[in-house]
Amino acid sequence: MSISRIISLPSKLAVSDNAASRNNLIAVASGKGGVGKTWLSVSLAHLFAKAGQRVLLFDGDLGLANVDIQLGLITPYDLGAVIAGKIPLTHAIAPCKAGGFDVIAGRSGSGSLASMPVSRLQMMFDDLRLVAQQYDKVIIDLGAGVERAVRLFAENAGKLLVVCSDEPTSLTDAYAFIKIIVKENPKIDIRVVVNAVLSVREGERTFATLQKACKGFLNYTPSLAGIIRKDARVRDAIRSQTSIITTYPDADAVSDVLKIAQTL
Ligand SMILES: Nc1ncnc2c1ncn2[C@@H]1O[C@H](COP(=O)(O)OP(=O)(O)O)[C@@H](O)[C@H]1O
Ligand SMILES: [Mg+2]
Repeated sequence: MSISRIISLPSKLAVSDNAASRNNLIAVASGKGGVGKTWLSVSLAHLFAKAGQRVLLFDGDLGLANVDIQLGLITPYDLGAVIAGKIPLTHAIAPCKAGGFDVIAGRSGSGSLASMPVSRLQMMFDDLRLVAQQYDKVIIDLGAGVERAVRLFAENAGKLLVVCSDEPTSLTDAYAFIKIIVKENPKIDIRVVVNAVLSVREGERTFATLQKACKGFLNYTPSLAGIIRKDARVRDAIRSQTSIITTYPDADAVSDVLKIAQTL
């Protein structure tokens, strides 16, 4: 796919005027780490921005934040300053000029952020809902696991993307994650992304297994957001700290993410 095709997609990715009145938060979670959440979040943000949408990418991985690393960004402030009460959330917003979207960076290696009191977390989420009114889409890149911060952001997002790979451990972690979230919010809109698969058929099989388990044991039927093929250029782009949308717009993985973006 050529870059011109990506650029010429605004009509399909366009948002309605009343987007701000809906819950336009898209959380990206998984259960297991290392399945491509951050890479997917960055790529979605970039594609939406290319289509003319106002996008904020929020690094909600409070323990191991790395959105800024994947983007090669140095931001003046991060969530650490917000949580310390030094600045309001809006002051932590920084532009990612190369991508045409805004970013709120997390802070890596700060255990205190991950163990923030629930009341503070709730306040931060409420602030984010307010900030979200200025955007068409807010993408929240969440950490692995099921700790409080992850649950709070996941349960309250308008759409929740659960990313898994075809590895059995990733699948069982995704199932365990969905189980916990659905228990808290049975009406949640969960969509599964099967990432880094060798073939689309393999991804479909993986999704079918997960969906069957959710239907049978949880009485909940997650839908399929899409399947993303394994692509060596994903790693290359991350290593060069640039978005794959700029570096390798023709990559298979980019066309797969684009298909997902069109449904969100
Ligand atoms: N579609 C893909 N094809 C190949 N490698 C991928 C793909 N998606 C993710 N990866 C690899 O997985 C690694 C972890 O991605 P990352 O976004 O940091 O995961 P997470 O945020 O879930 O921990 C990346 O460094 C990249 O090498
Ligand atoms: Mg991550």
